[in-house]
Amino acid sequence: MNWDDTGPDIDQRLVDSGSDGEDQAVEAALRPKDLDEFVGQEKVREQLDLVLRAARARGATADHVLLSGAPGLGKTTLSMIIAAEMNAPIRITSGPAIQHAGDLAAILSSLQEGEVLFLDEIHRMSRPAEEMLYMAMEDFRVDVIVGKGPGATAIPLELPPFTLVGATTRAGLLPPPLRDRFGFTGHMEFYEPAELERVVHRSARLLDLEIDVDGAAEIAGRSRGTPRIANRLLRRVRDYAQVKADGVIDRDIAAAALKVYEVDARGLDRLDRAVLGALLKLFGGGPVGLSTLAVAVGEERETVEEVAEPFLVREGLLARTPRGRVATPAAWAHLGLVPPRQGNGGNGQTGLFGT
Ligand SMILES: Nc1ncnc2c1ncn2[C@@H]1O[C@H](COP(=O)(O)OP(=O)(O)O)[C@@H](O)[C@H]1O
Ligand SMILES: [Mg+2]
Repeated sequence: MNWDDTGPDIDQRLVDSGSDGEDQAVEAALRPKDLDEFVGQEKVREQLDLVLRAARARGATADHVLLSGAPGLGKTTLSMIIAAEMNAPIRITSGPAIQHAGDLAAILSSLQEGEVLFLDEIHRMSRPAEEMLYMAMEDFRVDVIVGKGPGATAIPLELPPFTLVGATTRAGLLPPPLRDRFGFTGHMEFYEPAELERVVHRSARLLDLEIDVDGAAEIAGRSRGTPRIANRLLRRVRDYAQVKADGVIDRDIAAAALKVYEVDARGLDRLDRAVLGALLKLFGGGPVGLSTLAVAVGEERETVEEVAEPFLVREGLLARTPRGRVATPAAWAHLGLVPPRQGNGGNGQTGLFGT
């Protein structure tokens, strides 16, 4: 498995992988700095607000927080907000970067009291590190193993209280003992178009761009429910407006620009359409296994599963079944294709249950 890279979020490798350092700098500049600035996710925001307020009132370190949700929904942003709200420093690392328990021990033992440790992609941490983390989270202690073989000894090391913020695209992949050690789990949902419009207007203001209500709605509607994508599309539309128009972004300009970038009216991008297209054209609408589908589109399994599928499932275009991935009738319609005759699933058998 090609799972050992420590590169950027999976989603940042996508679609406009041509995007440069400027984009990442802009992304950082657009991050909301406190809970009030954070758009949407009402439930998570309210719950988190309580957790943080209570901890502050007690003068204590906040409980460990797990954030789960698709890429680009604001997990990293929230972790920084948690630190800011607690007036605490933050250390940022990720599961793939911690391959040995020793890597984790080094980080943990250098934490300051009250510090926030952000562990991105926590489901990709190595097993031994994970086990060390259990004890660190619960007892604020680690056992550092010194030496090898029969002579090895465990030296207990006290840690200052800290707040672990774990982020994962796959809460279901976390071993229960790890999940249970978080005092609070925030499930991030895809954003509603109205919320994304607010994100677009806010970002436009920060970037000093002129955009009208319809222009923002057009971008929001094509952003796959994801603020990171809304911001990214806004920047691409900005480029287009700069070159081809007088700079003000309205609906026509937004639509024309997004056509250039192959983002369709429903927000599907090239990867989404490649996945659907393969499912329909090569596999007759499925069911087909995830790995086979990933190979067909030349992507990693995890990219298809964590980046493309959650959105396609939410849009009712694709279903995950025990037998594999299946396209819905809406998928055929969206790509303008005609489904094969029902009950004749491509292999000449008639319906088992004789409908
Ligand atoms: N609730 C939000 N309100 C405004 N902007 C947001 C929100 N959530 C995310 N963003 C923007 O989207 C970008 C990606 O968010 P990030 O926290 O990096 O996502 P994740 O870590 O879940 O992949 C950030 O640059 C931020 O500007
Ligand atoms: Mg992130």
